Amino acid sequence: MKLPVSITVNGRVWTQDVEPRLLLVHFIREIAGLTGTKVGCDTSQCGACTVLLDGMAVKACTCLTVQADGASVTTIEGLASGSALHELQEAFWEKHGLQCGFCTPGMVLAAYDLLRANPSPGATEIRHALEGNLCRCTGYHNIVRAVQYAVSRGAPAARLAGAERGRGGPASDGDRGPRRACFARWGGGGGSGGAKPPGLAGGRS
Ligand code: FES
Ligand code: FES
Repeated sequence: MKLPVSITVNGRVWTQDVEPRLLLVHFIREIAGLTGTKVGCDTSQCGACTVLLDGMAVKACTCLTVQADGASVTTIEGLASGSALHELQEAFWEKHGLQCGFCTPGMVLAAYDLLRANPSPGATEIRHALEGNLCRCTGYHNIVRAVQYAVSRGAPAARLAGAERGRGGPASDGDRGPRRACFARWGGGGGSGGAKPPGLAGGRS
């Protein structure tokens, strides 16, 4: 049995019948064809699958596609404006906040969620907000510097809101309905709250 969904991904509406068990990350990669969103663990630990769901960061491997029915999804491909990179993408480039790049789409979108909630976070707040995103390569320092660089360049609220694609801003807690569970691990907003990967609650070196 398949169920009908209608999901807006980076401004394009996808109306589709899907298996009830289909994870949102597989919908994004295999149906929408947007492979910038990565699958690192499939168990809610690594954050490689992070996307914005109605403007707020979620791990797309924790969310069923049917839960996203009626929602707006922004992936890393939707953050840039044409050929112009988003300020956060430029900052990761400028500060070498990546090596292999596998974690980078999720890191950028988690950082986006942080700056949406807190436009001028300190280093500790940045590290705390990115605790749900694992990186095997960088040692994290340059990722933090990249977010700080974006803040110093005034990664503007208008450009952050622009990634939400006409949904009128992030969903409020009461509006999330069936999508509430998708936000459970981070609690939604600034990447804070919710469960943290074991051993990372105290921040990273
Ligand atoms: S693939 Fe979703 S958290 Fe790792
Ligand atoms: S840059 Fe390789 S996993 Fe982060």
